[in-house]
Amino acid sequence: MKMTVTPGMVSSLQILKESDLPLPLRLVKRGKVRDVYADGRYVYLVTTDRISAFDVVSEQGVPYKGCALNRASAFGFEKTKGIVPNHFISVPDPNVTVAEAYTPVKVEAIARGYLVGSAWRQYEKGRREFFGTKLREGLIHGQGFDSPLFTPSTKADAGHDVDLNTWQDFADLVGSEAEAGKIRQYTLDLYAAGDLETRRHGGLLVDTKFEYGRRGGDGYIGLIDEAWTHDSSRFLRFADYGRLMEANAPPKAWAEAWVDKEYVRTWLSENGFRGEGKMPAIPDEVIAGASNRAVGSYEMVTGKPLPAADPPTNERIAGNLAKTGFLK
Ligand SMILES: Nc1ncnc2c1ncn2[C@@H]1O[C@H](COP(=O)(O)OP(=O)(O)O)[C@@H](O)[C@H]1O
Ligand SMILES: [Mg+2]
Repeated sequence: MKMTVTPGMVSSLQILKESDLPLPLRLVKRGKVRDVYADGRYVYLVTTDRISAFDVVSEQGVPYKGCALNRASAFGFEKTKGIVPNHFISVPDPNVTVAEAYTPVKVEAIARGYLVGSAWRQYEKGRREFFGTKLREGLIHGQGFDSPLFTPSTKADAGHDVDLNTWQDFADLVGSEAEAGKIRQYTLDLYAAGDLETRRHGGLLVDTKFEYGRRGGDGYIGLIDEAWTHDSSRFLRFADYGRLMEANAPPKAWAEAWVDKEYVRTWLSENGFRGEGKMPAIPDEVIAGASNRAVGSYEMVTGKPLPAADPPTNERIAGNLAKTGFLK
């Protein structure tokens, strides 16, 4: 099925804004994008069609976003299980991942291959040291680093995440030097693996974020949450990257080219929203653009079209969980 969404289609497409699943599944958390359920054995991550920007959730949803993200993560977890253990058990429904319950480590582990986003904004203001790496003078927006940077931040329960600047702060938050070292190395290896997959399909993984947790039982550090998605990563097509760098195009000119959430962030920030006050209504044209980017990022990382699915309803999800024996 060809998944391209046009602005005129937006209002007629079914979206999953909030899930509602029956007992014995208990809702333990509504995150910005995922609803998390537990049954004492596993956790059930329902990736909805919600979109957040600057840590605020929009009242609107993005068609196909939930299933595109859920399937991209499933692909990422499968591809990288030899690099780092992860929580993944199965995908019984296009929007659901069944996973082992981990205790989240409260850091966001970010790897960056290129000077864009907040790193660029800080570099432009004169910052040269990024979590122990010194950048040279004269870099331009979008320039690739000699080797990818690891730039962790806090994972705030509410409000905004804050950059961590020293190894000590990072290790203290993680809980031990040895685990902090593991998280750094896993993150750089997972970034490299994602970039390789993306390059095989004509794109670049510009940067990406991971979350880790401690596994019940042995407390071993593993990868949780999501992997290589539209929300956690920035993607570009090679050709667009080449064209933008050749023109030394300003960050604004990159807005259309992002195959990820940066597209929506840029639209909001150009329309006066950076996280404070009420989020403006996002026009259907931008919602359609976001949908095509969510699906596009899945295709760029996997090299495959997103499998077709029935409209994402609670009935479909409960039915699929029952069929696969997770809901009795
Ligand atoms: N395997 C797991 N065990 C326990 N919690 C998890 C697991 N995987 C992800 N989580 C948590 O589930 C939530 C996912 O929802 P999400 O919408 O991504 O949250 P957020 O608003 O924090 O980004 C996050 O709080 C994440 O830390
Ligand atoms: Mg999240």
